[in-house]
Amino acid sequence: MCGITGYVGGRAGSVRLALDNLKRLEYRGYDSAGVAVVRPGDTQVTVLKKKGKLANLEAALSGLDKSGGTVIAHTRWATHGRPNDVNAHPHSDCTGKIALIHNGIIENYISLKERLTAAGHVFASDTDTEVLVHLVEAHLARGNGLEAAIRAALAEVTGAYAICVVSSEEPETIYAAKTASPLIIGLGEGENFLASDIPAVMGFTRNVLVLEDGDFARITPEGVTLTTLSGTPLQRDVFHVTWDVSTAQKGGYAHFMLKEIYDQPQAIRDTLRGRVTETHQVTFPELKLPTAKLLDFNRIVIVACGTAYNAGLAGKNFYEHLLRRPVEVQVASEFRYNDPIVDSRTLAIIISQSGETADTLAGLREAKIKGATTLALVNVVGSSIAREADEVIYTYAGPEISVASTKAYVTQLVGLYLIGLYIAQEENKLGPGLVADYVEQLLRLPEQVETILADTTAIQEVAQTLKDSSSFFFLGRGFDYAVAQEGALKLKEVSYIHAEAYPAGELKHGPLALVEPGVSVVCIATQSSLYDKVQSNVKEVSARDASTVGIVKAGDEGLNEHFVDSILRVPATHDTFMPALAIVPMQLLAYYIADALGREIDQPRNLAKSVTVE
Ligand code: AGP
Repeated sequence: MCGITGYVGGRAGSVRLALDNLKRLEYRGYDSAGVAVVRPGDTQVTVLKKKGKLANLEAALSGLDKSGGTVIAHTRWATHGRPNDVNAHPHSDCTGKIALIHNGIIENYISLKERLTAAGHVFASDTDTEVLVHLVEAHLARGNGLEAAIRAALAEVTGAYAICVVSSEEPETIYAAKTASPLIIGLGEGENFLASDIPAVMGFTRNVLVLEDGDFARITPEGVTLTTLSGTPLQRDVFHVTWDVSTAQKGGYAHFMLKEIYDQPQAIRDTLRGRVTETHQVTFPELKLPTAKLLDFNRIVIVACGTAYNAGLAGKNFYEHLLRRPVEVQVASEFRYNDPIVDSRTLAIIISQSGETADTLAGLREAKIKGATTLALVNVVGSSIAREADEVIYTYAGPEISVASTKAYVTQLVGLYLIGLYIAQEENKLGPGLVADYVEQLLRLPEQVETILADTTAIQEVAQTLKDSSSFFFLGRGFDYAVAQEGALKLKEVSYIHAEAYPAGELKHGPLALVEPGVSVVCIATQSSLYDKVQSNVKEVSARDASTVGIVKAGDEGLNEHFVDSILRVPATHDTFMPALAIVPMQLLAYYIADALGREIDQPRNLAKSVTVE
């Protein structure tokens, strides 16, 4: 999730303008930043880019910020290629006449890069993005004009992109195109603006064109020409923005937590992107270790903290179900001091959104010292855990701003599912047909999450009913118990109400003594084979006047209004993948209860987004 801004018009200091607009996109991540500017008469595009926050780039401007001209600027949230000066955007072609910025993932960049390199193109970076600008150059060399060359280049690309292109050949034009990554055009008088998101242009205009997938735009100071990628003219309605900047930075949502819950379908799509073949097998092009080395284990240990640990619990159940080898999940702060039983036949999976959690990093180092093969599942490219693990697989959730982790959790689940299926596939534990069955279920998850998000009325009603509960139990069995842990953590973090996840069959062995009027119980019952057991557990608590909520698969009547006060239904998928759906109503329940209680939702008291101390 990178940040893009652009400007075309007559203002002096347009570089400063584009960079100031970029600052309003800070929530989209800063690991490096860059700017390109071109003026009539230039023989090349001037490009300046720096690792780190925008301030590093500004410190190097040395007068460039006073420059006028046509400008594109970019902040990077790295996906392919570590954060450094060379991998920062904009990227230039071999002649220096073209500069391009990109937000997204080019899935087929490796094959395109091989072809372009063989044709003599010289690459400076190891990003996927740089392929695009050399592809445009290659099509220019075939006699196309710039616009036709950009269209032809994009026609060869698979993946997600929002791009802006400038050239010294057309110094008062920006070309832009959008598929699966956001891009908007701010409309001015004798000038126009581009950005990844609305907040960036609100200092100059509230009239925007929100581009849609497949749109292609030619932007000059005089106006905007919109077409499809193949050139068919398009019309888009102008959207007049009424939000304030802060609300706009949250995409119109009241809090980043709610925005990030609604980001989940796209985050799942981005995490699956490039890792599923046309025949629905699993592939990890990024893996460096020989497969034999990665598969040479007789047990798995999963090490993480908080939400990442809870994702590991669901992963454990899936792996033991699929691989029939022992899997242990340990809280990193315990693992690092327990002298864990780890050796060269152990695969240590280290999960972390930030990649900087001190306990988890220490757990990684402990596992390495003991000879384990370490595989990191991380959201931040180039983070400490990503750098130190033997192998790293990234979740592509984009920056997660809210302290309460939501989209990182579901992408960690998806990452764990893909890793498990990859191992089973490579060990021939699952034939191609079964792998494809699982993968097809994974590919449906985004739209199933969208179904839940499309109508949250029932969840909001339950939140209003239960917001004054004295405490909560989250009950489940098997996969449902794993996701219950994350549901309980979400509620505790943002509402400050005590909550505890418990195996549904275990309550009668003591904690049932706590159940009384005022206590609420969320019962997750998505595992078809366990319904009758869960029904009796629910009766135990409702008989003691607890308020009860059931989370069930749509269409299942195993747990219905006869057993619980409220029912929240989620679409049905493979039982092993149900945590990725069942968590969504629990995230929303936590959010709406906290909102009803007036809590500081994005920065809860006592908590930090990344716990980089012991
Ligand atoms: C989750 O909502 C919390 N913010 C917290 O438990 C978090 O998951 C934990 O600190 C681990 O962080 P990491 O994934 O960045 O390592």
